[in-house]
Amino acid sequence: MSSPSPIRQIMKMAERQNIVAMGLDPEQVISFGGGWVNHEAPEEFREAYVEVVSDRALFHKSGGYTATLGELECREQIAQFEAALFDVPRLGPEHIAIGMGSTQLTHDLFRTLVNPGDTVMLLDPTYANYEGQLAFAAPGVSIVRLRVVDPDTWSYLPDVDPDGVNREFRRLFDLHRPKLVLFGAPDNPTSQIVPQALAEAMLERTRDAGAWLAIDFAYKCQYFAPYPSYYSWSPSDHPHVIGIHSNSKWARGLGRRLGWIEAAPAVIDAIERVQQCSILCPDTLEQMTMARYLKRAIPSGSLRRYVDDANTLYRKAAQVTIEAVDRHLERPRLVPAGGLYTVVNVGRNADTFVPEALKATGVLVVPGRGFGPSLTNGVRISFGPLVHDLARIEAGIERLGRFVNGVH
Ligand SMILES: Cc1ncc(COP(=O)(O)O)c(C=O)c1O
Repeated sequence: MSSPSPIRQIMKMAERQNIVAMGLDPEQVISFGGGWVNHEAPEEFREAYVEVVSDRALFHKSGGYTATLGELECREQIAQFEAALFDVPRLGPEHIAIGMGSTQLTHDLFRTLVNPGDTVMLLDPTYANYEGQLAFAAPGVSIVRLRVVDPDTWSYLPDVDPDGVNREFRRLFDLHRPKLVLFGAPDNPTSQIVPQALAEAMLERTRDAGAWLAIDFAYKCQYFAPYPSYYSWSPSDHPHVIGIHSNSKWARGLGRRLGWIEAAPAVIDAIERVQQCSILCPDTLEQMTMARYLKRAIPSGSLRRYVDDANTLYRKAAQVTIEAVDRHLERPRLVPAGGLYTVVNVGRNADTFVPEALKATGVLVVPGRGFGPSLTNGVRISFGPLVHDLARIEAGIERLGRFVNGVH
């Protein structure tokens, strides 16, 4: 309770009453703070909702409990989804636990896999919520971080020095013997994708040590170049690898709260036990409609088209963002390989930079420190919410540029 998420704190600062108290006009504020997508959910998915809600018997069914791990039909369709989009082989419902989004599933996975006193390896930087979730789910866990962004050169180390990072991973692993290694692909906030060689080094070391490797695939469908082959790993072949998945980003279902874990059946059994205590069952209406939608959209090819179209939108928004950063900010940044973000080095501590910039320009970005010490002088810029308003991306970064370069 005494160490709230730094991102939540900054988002609180940007609440309407605080914006007004700063003397700003809320209508003029441009926010790059939100970690969310803004494209439309599939139309056929909306139609599946209409069908279920307008049928008395189906609507009645949607108010009932499902099994703790989710409805069998939805688990089967999710396995098909992974086979259709990412060629994941030999995946069946026995490998899938449906939950209420990846936040709940990650927390429950931590409860399942780690004990107080264990060590968990995360990247520096990585998704800011993991630390807090670990503190709640398994108090007394130690965290060791593998650095992937060089704060001096602002480069993504697995790309510029792959051998060095792989060596450092092995050194840290052997020194700290983590029970779990966890990374996001692509990660939040860097939007970089861990390359195949590093994922394989992690696969081997965790397997040989009897440890776990978890990959957070919240943004799996959002890639701007060919994805690495570990996107097709199956728990049938790698029983110590766990995928954490979500409908939040790809189907713009952030508030509909559906996610799933892919893992060996023994892990799924354990998750079932934990979910009996945490959620009892996932959302029935969302499972019924998702299963109906996927059953048609996979064979018809409309799922593939939907994912490709969304990628085209975000690739364009990423490009506009980077070009605007280069034109107006002229500061080191990372080019997104997928996802919704870039990180920019603002050249000074971002904890003070962010509120000053907000006050002076009405533009909100997120300070980097919460993601890991490598980003102390960095900010995360999210283009996700503005995917349909590229002019606003340009305008916001231009304002920020004037502030950074001392022109008011
Ligand atoms: C890396 C990562 N994992 C998980 C989540 C949370 O996703 P969900 O909505 O499925 O809980 C987010 C949300 O921003 C994220 O960035």
